[in-house]
Amino acid sequence: MRQDYIDQAKQVLRDNDRGTYTVPTHGLYPFQWNWDSALSALGFAHYDEDRAWTEIETLFDHQWECGMVPHIIFHEYDPGYFPGPEVYATGRPTPTSGLSQPAVAAFAARRMFDRAKDKEMARRRAAALLPKMHAWHEWFYRTRDPEGTGLVAIIHPWESGRDNSVDWDAALERVSTEGVGTFQRRDITHANPAHRPTHAQYERYIKLVQIFRELNWDTSKLHDASPFQVVDPGFNAILIRACADLADLADLLGEPGMATRSRALADRGIAALETLWSDGMGQYLCYDRQVGALIESPTVGGLLPAFAAIPTERAAGISRRIEVLGRSCEYLIPSHDPTAPEYDGLRYWRGPVWLIVNYMIADGLCRAGQTDMVGRIMTDSLRLIDRSGFAEYYDPITAEPCGGAHFTWTAAMVLEILAQEAELA
Ligand code: GLC
Repeated sequence: MRQDYIDQAKQVLRDNDRGTYTVPTHGLYPFQWNWDSALSALGFAHYDEDRAWTEIETLFDHQWECGMVPHIIFHEYDPGYFPGPEVYATGRPTPTSGLSQPAVAAFAARRMFDRAKDKEMARRRAAALLPKMHAWHEWFYRTRDPEGTGLVAIIHPWESGRDNSVDWDAALERVSTEGVGTFQRRDITHANPAHRPTHAQYERYIKLVQIFRELNWDTSKLHDASPFQVVDPGFNAILIRACADLADLADLLGEPGMATRSRALADRGIAALETLWSDGMGQYLCYDRQVGALIESPTVGGLLPAFAAIPTERAAGISRRIEVLGRSCEYLIPSHDPTAPEYDGLRYWRGPVWLIVNYMIADGLCRAGQTDMVGRIMTDSLRLIDRSGFAEYYDPITAEPCGGAHFTWTAAMVLEILAQEAELA
């Protein structure tokens, strides 16, 4: 059985491999996505370390001079996707988007380095990536935390990786759609429209892109100009974890100065995360910088901080919160509380389970000693594969497979989860 899953997962990675990068899935997402690549590299690393490093290297080959690493690299033209390179118009030699995504690459690089069988190759390739990853992290703090709070804001829902989460509803509602014009979505020709964001949301996504394009994608100006500025605890936790992992890697690779600077960013971030904790909700919350208030919405973004080295009592709190969520669904971890009125078990980030999120939360809870909960999350993740294959996401009550099929990072996570299970056994 386990071997079956391993073979199938490798097949998914092979089918979506375009040589030096992978597409998340054929059709719906025909380019390279930032955090998809970083997490997918972990899958490759189980059987082809060289290919795994290449995945991350290709991503960083398209880093901007300012340090930003784009959320999509449009390696090859594909008319089946909207918004394509002509909408972003970033003017890059190989077209890219002008937004970024969760900075999980340094976590992946460190994990690959730690596990590498070919240590010499790992050393060489991690050392070359190190300054690039560090520049990206510093870019985030420089451009997205102008007041030095220790936490960065996203300026577009797509940057969070949780595109249509309830977290963004109120802030997105305030984005005017004046002059946005008409456009034709392509996502709903590849996937069931009931599994995807609404048209009203898409209009605002595009409007934000238009605002940034008018500023010629000068990333030093976008934060202040954006009508959408939200501090996402999940996004920050991933960045904090990346800074901490990069600091360790820098120490191991003889870069003590970089290690000190990176560790300072992580420590400051951990302290600042505390301002997002809600006793009432029993989890972290997003903060809307435009209105200066926390966003009271029970999403998985507020559980993801488990991935960073938060205090033990906070990790225990997150574990308790997941336990409660488990009472109203069959499969952990729903991306939105199933008892909340906005919950929608099929619609993308408004309810469905995502294996990458399960993996990151479980990883953090494991470090915090929450082993029972880790076991439940891992078991539920594999039950979903069993029931519904390698889908993009799943209904947490019925296990219905949603979005795209034959999905790269889902397959990579299966390889990861099975390897960890084998280690624990
Ligand atoms: C969707 C997801 C995002 C992911 C992308 C490619 O936009 O919300 O997190 O990176 O698809 O899989």
